Amino acid sequence: MDRYEQVIELAKRRGFLWNSFEIYGGTAGFYDYGPLGSTLKRRIEQIWRDTYVIREGYMEIEAPTIGIEEVFIASGHVGGFSDPLCECKNCGEAFRADHLVDKIVACADGLGTRELDMVIKENSISCPECQGELGETYEFNLMFKTNIGPGSGRQGYMRPETAQGMFVDFLRLARFYRDKLPFGATQIGKSYRNEISPRQGVIRLREFTQAEAEIFIDPNDKKHPNFHRFADNVLNLYSDEAQQRGTADQMRLDEAVEKGIIAHEFLAYQIGLTNHFLQRIGIAGDKLRFRQHKKDEMAHYAIDCWDAEIETERFGWVEVVGIADRTDYDLKAHAAVSKTELSIYKEYSEPRMVTRFVVKPDMGKLGPLFKGKAKDVAEALKAMSREELEKDNITVMVGEEALTVPNDIVEFAEETVKCSGENIIPHVIEPSYGIDRIFYSTMEHAFAEEKVAGKEDTEDESRIVMRFRKEVAPVQVAVLPLLTREELITPAKSIEASIRQKGLLVSYDDSGTIGRRYRRNDEIGTPYSVTIDYDTLEDNTVTIRDRDSMKQIRAHADGIADLLYELIYMEKDFKSAGKVL
Ligand code: GLY
Repeated sequence: MDRYEQVIELAKRRGFLWNSFEIYGGTAGFYDYGPLGSTLKRRIEQIWRDTYVIREGYMEIEAPTIGIEEVFIASGHVGGFSDPLCECKNCGEAFRADHLVDKIVACADGLGTRELDMVIKENSISCPECQGELGETYEFNLMFKTNIGPGSGRQGYMRPETAQGMFVDFLRLARFYRDKLPFGATQIGKSYRNEISPRQGVIRLREFTQAEAEIFIDPNDKKHPNFHRFADNVLNLYSDEAQQRGTADQMRLDEAVEKGIIAHEFLAYQIGLTNHFLQRIGIAGDKLRFRQHKKDEMAHYAIDCWDAEIETERFGWVEVVGIADRTDYDLKAHAAVSKTELSIYKEYSEPRMVTRFVVKPDMGKLGPLFKGKAKDVAEALKAMSREELEKDNITVMVGEEALTVPNDIVEFAEETVKCSGENIIPHVIEPSYGIDRIFYSTMEHAFAEEKVAGKEDTEDESRIVMRFRKEVAPVQVAVLPLLTREELITPAKSIEASIRQKGLLVSYDDSGTIGRRYRRNDEIGTPYSVTIDYDTLEDNTVTIRDRDSMKQIRAHADGIADLLYELIYMEKDFKSAGKVL
């Protein structure tokens, strides 16, 4: 078994991850989170909320997971969110055409459908499943379609990213934040992509959880007030240039900004914050790098983008977070499709004298010419640029109608006025997290198999231990009465209840030998086990065992819940928390 199989085997057996629809034979691209998986995932999400909502101040919103067509026309997903698909004419199996040829040609993901068909034909590539002939490649849109309402209804799509909900709510968000940049919104929720043939288990899902922040900033000020927090962090930066060399650089974030490797401070701050978050939840620092998108792979909306990538044994470097400067692309696109101005008024620090171009339509002449439409014509003229107005014949649109206005009845002039601000379209910085991949990576990096020296005449044995960070571990404390005797069960239950009241997640386990119970809890990563024995009845003390060191201390049962809370959340030192055994 490779490490992926070991982790997935444990995940299935111990209630972290299950194949969805298992009794019906399952289907690729879907996983259920079992009781421990759900809890672990929520803990990761809560730390994400702590990072972005509480500490950064980007409030969470909740938009629908189904979107109307206009939203995804504006975002570009209806037109361009597709992968090249080819199907076997014999067995009907579907394949990503670029994946079929990626061992043969470099940059297969940049080829068009006709080029892919040529490579398939020239290399006599047949169906990997049945060797049948492959059909023509075509672009397959990855959005799940649905209808809103009965009958033919209105076309809807399951959202392929949570981001769009935050762009659509831009004006409401701006008012909420009293029209002051920068501000941000976050969402954690499901997104959907109808992947052609997901074969990478939990790494590529058709329904997955994203945690995204859309941070609206002044396009002329991309500094970050708290950049000093991460400026001296030395990270594995795999820039476009470093990728051509083949080795990542160990570089401070401020140096990367100064050298123009990272576009600006605001983006660099987000990279620092992502690094901080991933290590807080237990991703190994030496298996984490930040890879810059090459010019030819950058999404159409971005001017700089860095992926946080985590090294895994089976899949190599896996993209788990994308951190992009999306510029004003999305706001402009939604403004155009919705015909709504999506801008914000920015007050200057001091009023400025501004020379501007003003149009003065002559109503005395427009009236007789255009009668009832004269007012609309005047309004349309006022909205036109100087270039358009200086043409011999000016064409204005009134509704669907094009009207020609002689230019001698329109006067224009320049005037200098005092101006205290202007409308600007913010740029958007977006950290976008794929929570399921982070979940899997957290499990893989926590997974350890180790030898445990046997005591006196017993043999060495091995244990599997999930070394989850304590604040991430799904079950935080195990309560273990040494024997299933009433006199031990009663105090054990009362200790269990006090720990629950403290808000810690406890598992009460009284089946099997104490050794087996320790192993069971090691395997799900429970940081502390509390054993109640006959000494407890004598002196009201219990044994606390530390998962990682397997060391034990004896501590008083009164106040045990507070003590465990401090050990888990406040980095209290274990050995000084009681009498070391
Ligand atoms: N919002 C970026 C993405 O989903 O890829």
